[in-house]
Order: sequence, then structure tokens, then C-alpha cells
Amino acid sequence: MSNGASDHRPRIEVTNVPTPQQERGARRLSTLGRVLLALGLAAGLAAGWIALPAFLYGRQEQPLAFNHLVHVETAAMSCEDCHSFGVDGSYVGIPPLSACADCHSEAQGDSEAERILVDDFVTPGREIPWLVYARQPDNVYFSHAPHVRLAEIECRRCHGDHGKSETTPVYQYNRISTYSRNIWGPRIAGGGPNEWDSMKMSDCVSCHAERGVHDHCLMCHK
Ligand code: HEC
Ligand code: HEC
Ligand code: HEC
Ligand code: HEC
Ligand code: HEC
Repeated sequence: MSNGASDHRPRIEVTNVPTPQQERGARRLSTLGRVLLALGLAAGLAAGWIALPAFLYGRQEQPLAFNHLVHVETAAMSCEDCHSFGVDGSYVGIPPLSACADCHSEAQGDSEAERILVDDFVTPGREIPWLVYARQPDNVYFSHAPHVRLAEIECRRCHGDHGKSETTPVYQYNRISTYSRNIWGPRIAGGGPNEWDSMKMSDCVSCHAERGVHDHCLMCHK
């Protein structure tokens, strides 16, 4: 019995108690393991952060690359020349093709966008199917007149510098809600660095609260 036990003990000690070299090896491995785990996590997060928007947001090109700056500066036009109020106070929004045809019945410059404008829209008399970045869901009521005329809020407060843009950014929409990405904002978590980066319900309501406008559900929802 005692002989058998002493026969086994050394073998147990050899297999179970790590030598100092093995201990160092194990520690090296676990340090390497932790580094790999951290790297893996970081890579996973980064991939998710890049892949999520690709999955979450659908992308659609505008039918025509429109250049605001060339019209506002070179053609010296004002915003109201194209974005005016009708006699009833309703907003025209994006101007119809007839507002373009006056100056673009035939190409003046050699830009590809102007050729598309003339050949695909003006000549066949086809309206340009613009996509509206600020488009709210159908159940939301918004009118420009009280904001622009009565409250004298600048376009920039809600639309940023789109009035000075040189081309039309890709229109992006949330595949789940179908809303334009501009409603929620550029960040996945909502909002962005500028006050105009999002126009969610809470953005409308907080400006109303700041300016003492007493709103209620049915004021904004039909
Ligand atoms: C020559 C006509 C013209 C003039 C002048 C003009 N716009 Fe536009 N605007 C357009 C057209 C066309 C679009 C649609 C394409 C686009 O989004 O750029 C548009 C779109 C917009 C939109 C985007 C709405 C949305 O959410 O999709 C804003 C905001 C806007 N214009 C503001 C301005 C401001 C501010 C000015 C003056 C600095 C201005 N525009 C001058 C023709 C014009
Ligand atoms: C008052 C005249 C005028 C009106 C109205 C006008 N434009 Fe222009 N547009 C110009 C001028 C001037 C230029 C610069 C010269 C050129 O490229 O033809 C220009 C340039 C363009 C170009 C080429 C610019 C580029 O950088 O690629 C496009 C596309 C265009 N306009 C689209 C439109 C659309 C769409 C409308 C209607 C919403 C419109 N324009 C209304 C005067 C006008
Ligand atoms: C208080 C915020 C606010 C201000 C100020 C504002 N807008 Fe808008 N704008 C919006 C919202 C919200 C929409 C989307 C409306 C909808 O979908 O019913 C919009 C839509 C538009 C559109 C697309 C029109 C359409 O419905 O087809 C144009 C063009 C536009 N705005 C131009 C302007 C211009 C130019 C000014 C300055 C004169 C201006 N906006 C000021 C919030 C604002
Ligand atoms: C930057 C401030 C601001 C933002 C952002 C804003 N509003 Fe307003 N809104 C006002 C002010 C100020 C008034 C009161 C105007 C007046 O009657 O003098 C008003 C009035 C209104 C009214 C009542 C007038 C009417 O049309 O009958 C509605 C509806 C409304 N806002 C909807 C909205 C919605 C929807 C949004 C967001 C998409 C929004 N507003 C974003 C400032 C804002
Ligand atoms: C100042 C305008 C305003 C008022 C007041 C307002 N809403 Fe909204 N609401 C919006 C806008 C803009 C949206 C769309 C953007 C979004 O989803 O945030 C919205 C979206 C919603 C949605 C749908 C959410 C979604 O993602 O589609 C519900 C539900 C809703 N509102 C309920 C209410 C109720 C209930 C009240 C009253 C307690 C109310 N709202 C008051 C502007 C308003």
C-alpha cells in the first residue's frame, strides 16, 4: 500500500504541478489570449459599426445631381426664386420642371448633369422625381409658413447648409422604419454634431418648449 502510494505520487506531481517554465508559458499564453480577445472584440465592434449602417440604411441616388451653389452664386438666384410660398401660404417646396426649363431649354454649359436635365427631363417634359431628405412620415403635419414667416426661423436651423451644396448627397433611408435617415440623424444612436442633424419628434417638441409654443398630439399628427 505505502509502496504503491509512493509509486504514484511522483507521477501525480509531475503531471499536475507545473514547472516554472510551464507557468511562464501559461502566463504568456493567457496574456496573448487576452490581447487576442481584445483585438477580436475591437475588430468585431468595428466591423459591426461599419456593417450595421450598410445593413440598416438603404441608399438611393437622386435622379439628377443638382448644384445649389452655381445657381445661388453664378446665376445670382435667391432661395425664394425656387422655393416660394403659393398665394394661399402653402409651400411650393422643390420647384417643378417648368421653373428650370426657362433657363435650360437647351444645354448652355458642357456639364453631364445639364445634358441629363435637358435630354431626360426638359425635352420629354418629364417631372424630376426628387427625393426629399427632410421628408416626414405621412402621419406628421408640418407647414413652413408658421416657421419661416411667423417665427422667422432660418432654413439653416432645420436644413443645415443644403442651400450651398454643390451636389446632391445619396438619399439614405432606414430599412426598418423606411424613414429618411435625416429624421433620426447620421449617428446610429440618433442625432449628430449639429442642431439640424435630426428632426425627430423630440427635436420638434423641444424647440416648441424653448419658444413657448404649446403643442399637443393632434397639432402634429393627423
Ligand atoms: C434654381 C432653383 C433653386 C434655388 C435658387 C435654390 N434651390 Fe433649393 N432646391 C432646388 C432643387 C431642384 C432641389 C432638389 C434637389 C436637392 O435636394 O438639392 C432643392 C432642394 C432644397 C432643399 C432640400 C430639401 C430636402 O430636405 O430634400 C433645401 C433645404 C433647399 N433646397 C434650400 C435652399 C436654400 C436655403 C436656397 C437659397 C440659398 C435654395 N435652396 C435655392 C432648387 C433650388
Ligand atoms: C435663372 C436661370 C436658371 C434657372 C431658373 C435654373 N438654372 Fe440651372 N443653371 C443656370 C446657370 C447660369 C448655370 C451655370 C451654367 C451652366 O452650367 O449652364 C446652371 C447650371 C445648371 C446645371 C449644371 C451645373 C453643374 O454644376 O453640373 C444643372 C444640372 C442645372 N442648372 C439644373 C437646374 C434645375 C434642375 C433647375 C430647376 C429647378 C434649374 N437649373 C434652374 C441657370 C438657371
Ligand atoms: C422648423 C424647421 C424648418 C425650417 C425653418 C425650414 N424647413 Fe424646410 N422642411 C422642414 C421639414 C420638417 C420638411 C419635411 C416636410 C414634410 O415632409 O412634410 C421640410 C421640407 C422642405 C423641402 C422639401 C419640400 C417638400 O415637402 O417637397 C424644401 C425644398 C425645404 N424644406 C426648403 C426650405 C427652405 C428654403 C427653408 C427656408 C426658407 C426651409 N425649408 C425652412 C423643416 C424646416
Ligand atoms: C427651431 C424651432 C422649431 C422647430 C425645430 C420646429 N418648430 Fe414647429 N413651431 C415653432 C414655432 C416658433 C411655432 C409658432 C409659430 C407661430 O405661430 O408664431 C411653431 C408652430 C408649429 C405648428 C403650429 C402651426 C401650424 O402649422 O398650424 C406646428 C403644427 C408645428 N410647429 C409642427 C412642427 C413639427 C412637426 C416640427 C418637427 C418636424 C417642428 N414644428 C419643428 C418652432 C419650431
Ligand atoms: C411638435 C410636433 C409633435 C407633437 C406635439 C407630437 N408629435 Fe408624435 N411625432 C412627431 C414627428 C415629427 C414624428 C416622426 C419622427 C419620429 O419618429 O420621431 C412623430 C412620431 C410619432 C409616433 C410614431 C413613432 C415612429 O417612430 O413612427 C407616435 C406613436 C407619436 N408620434 C405619438 C405622439 C403622441 C401620442 C403625441 C402627444 C403626446 C405626439 N406624438 C405629439 C411630431 C410630434
